[in-house]
Amino acid sequence: MERIEISRKSENMEKRTKRKKGDFEVRQMTLDDLPQVWRISERIFTPYSLQFTYRTWNIGELLSRFQDNPELCLVAEEKRTGMIVGFAIGAVLKRPYSPWTYGYFAWAGVKRTWQKHGVGERLYKELERRFREKGARIALVDVESGNHAGIRFIEKLGFKKSQIFIWYSKNLEQQ
Ligand SMILES: CC(C)(COP(=O)(O)OP(=O)(O)OC[C@H]1O[C@@H](n2cnc3c(N)ncnc32)[C@H](O)[C@@H]1OP(=O)(O)O)[C@@H](O)C(=O)NCCC(=O)NCCS
Repeated sequence: MERIEISRKSENMEKRTKRKKGDFEVRQMTLDDLPQVWRISERIFTPYSLQFTYRTWNIGELLSRFQDNPELCLVAEEKRTGMIVGFAIGAVLKRPYSPWTYGYFAWAGVKRTWQKHGVGERLYKELERRFREKGARIALVDVESGNHAGIRFIEKLGFKKSQIFIWYSKNLEQQ
């Protein structure tokens, strides 16, 4: 059992080291991609690793973002297999009667075996290009305080901490 586990681990390591930064392309999400995007999200947005992300993400969220703003829903596709390896989803927020338009970087996920290969960064860069095209002057993102990889990631993308937002929760089953 242990041996199988070890050989699986070394297989994954091998896959990781063989991957190169240019092995994927970023493009707009299509209807056919939705099941793969959902499957990736289910594996990485777990209640153990990303509790609030897990609670606020659901299939309705994915479908409505895709329906409202398909051009701000992106995927990274492995060139060799055509498999989806990551996704990024954004929205444009406009203030009525104001010139301010914001690009909101709402969701991002990269398949575990593809993480740290530049996929997330390429996805975000394309999203930001689209934000600018739509007139956004500021990009916004939020991240769970315990998501250290996520924090490093968004800081690498150039975001600066601007406000601490605290989530409270209340157990409604207890009096
Ligand atoms: C966060 C996430 C999307 C990053 O995607 P990725 O493809 O692995 O990121 P990249 O390879 O493009 O990394 C870009 C930079 O982010 C930082 N980074 C990414 N993953 C990191 C990690 N695990 N630990 C530390 N820094 C990390 C690095 O600075 C990296 O730049 P470098 O490689 O030049 O050092 C991915 O780890 C993921 O899916 N996490 C789970 C879901 C999640 O947290 N989503 C919300 C993010 S706001």
